[in-house]
Amino acid sequence: MKYLVTSALPYANGPIHLGHLAGAYLPADVYVRYLRNMQREVIYVCGTDEHGVPITINAESRGIRPEDVVRENHEKIKLGFDLAEVSFDIFSGTHCDTQVELSQHFFNRLNENGYISVREVEQLYCEHDKMFLPDRYVEGICPICKTPGARGDQCDKCGNALNTLDLIEPKCKLCGETPVRKVSKHWFLDLDKFEKRLDDWLESKTDWKSNVKAFCKQWFERGLEPRGITRDLSWGVPVPLEEAEGKVLYVWFDAPIGYVSFTKQLFAQRGLPEDEWEKWWKGGDDVKLVHFIGKDNIVFHSIIWPAMLMGQNDGWKLPDEIPANEFLNLEGQKISTSKNWAIWVHDFLERFNPDSLRFYLATIAPETKDSDFSFKGYQDTNNGMLAAIYGNFVNRCLAFINKFFNGRIDGDVKYMPEDDDLWNEVNAELKTLLECYETFRVRDAAFHLMEIGRIANKYFDTMAPWALRKNDPARCNGVFIHCLNLIDKMATAMEPITPAASRKVKAMLGLPKVFDFTKIFDKNIESGIQLGKTEILFSMIDDDTIAAEKARLG
Ligand code: MF3
Ligand code: ZN
Repeated sequence: MKYLVTSALPYANGPIHLGHLAGAYLPADVYVRYLRNMQREVIYVCGTDEHGVPITINAESRGIRPEDVVRENHEKIKLGFDLAEVSFDIFSGTHCDTQVELSQHFFNRLNENGYISVREVEQLYCEHDKMFLPDRYVEGICPICKTPGARGDQCDKCGNALNTLDLIEPKCKLCGETPVRKVSKHWFLDLDKFEKRLDDWLESKTDWKSNVKAFCKQWFERGLEPRGITRDLSWGVPVPLEEAEGKVLYVWFDAPIGYVSFTKQLFAQRGLPEDEWEKWWKGGDDVKLVHFIGKDNIVFHSIIWPAMLMGQNDGWKLPDEIPANEFLNLEGQKISTSKNWAIWVHDFLERFNPDSLRFYLATIAPETKDSDFSFKGYQDTNNGMLAAIYGNFVNRCLAFINKFFNGRIDGDVKYMPEDDDLWNEVNAELKTLLECYETFRVRDAAFHLMEIGRIANKYFDTMAPWALRKNDPARCNGVFIHCLNLIDKMATAMEPITPAASRKVKAMLGLPKVFDFTKIFDKNIESGIQLGKTEILFSMIDDDTIAAEKARLG
């Protein structure tokens, strides 16, 4: 089995915040690291989503080109992911030739196969700017709550989705003039023609998360309708038809195709044959295709994208899993970038340890409902779990061995029956942990990891090696061999969530930085071990630091 894992492509219209990280990237990265540690064949593909109207509006308002907006944000986003150690195999972007080629191919195949229809649509046109105005290019009075400043697609005041033509006193956002109504030709994906196939396919996914199932059910109840997939715009993938001059594919049509483009690019970079990517995307049951997303992306991944794939009639795989997460709030409020109620990943990780952030986000992963990031929670988790349980166990063992045995456990070793009890308990936790990783339950995984830490500390306290050192040196050695193996197991088991700490611990144990889950129940350490240099794993976060972070919000 091969695993093709993706995370939603972040818009190259701004940096990413902790909500993004917690929803679509950290859970995917944990899963991917788990798969690699299980020695399974996996690729993890992502990149920025570089088309769409918000990017052109952003560029116009700053007097720069969309390409510049994209480049600037791509760099910031990438920096955030690098600092957070999200381990993509490739992180590319959709504004590229591969993407144009593949998106046009997708469109043409759908068209040839009879899944695309053309319609005349009435739209707003600005005589001054000589262009059709996409929804976000129009502002006016909300027809529902009558507030001025509503956008063509939505009113932020009452939150209703709007139809641009319904806006009262519409104005062109570029020049302020009143646009006129004009007819424009657009191409539609006939989703209705996939209704039966999609429904049967979704019905077969009995173990999918309930949020995804519920969302799709709602859509089917309303009935699937053709959806516009073209826009009057110059920024994007040109519609590959002569009569469609000046039109591009809608950003949501090309975005998921980015997953394919990046796969192709990845294999080209690796110097593999041209058709390698097809073994993955057309690999049938040999491949498991997993899309990690936030809940706002469900319909695109579970209905529209699968329809696009089905409509190729060309052996494309459909998604096998769509682990969609709910949203992360911040200090009890919805994250809002316009109100500066957000924490940017690239900024936060200039000051904080990525592992403690990753671990905290794992403990509050919004898996089944919205969850809340609080600085207090972050501090408590770092200090009370990572430092006090994991870090403390590592530190107390290694410090003892360094102090009394010069960093070396050697000579006779005595084992006792209670050691078996210890390992029975730990192995049961490890077994459950692997199941959690396999089934995208990051929260539970973090919980079981801390259980192992608690068991380890309890063993140390009960065995009281400080007394054994004098009365029973061989037993003292035995206890420490177990403790060191516990530390090694924890480092291995935690790697998907806290990779940097795991690498540090392996170095402290003088072991190679290998995290092999297929050998997770074997013990690596025996008498004769020489420790490496020790260092502190997690430092405490104090109240002043937390207060300073809070003051930055809003
Ligand atoms: N850019 C979109 C968002 O941030 C996600 C695109 S995911 C893909 O909501 F499937 F289209 F790639
Ligand atoms: Zn105008």
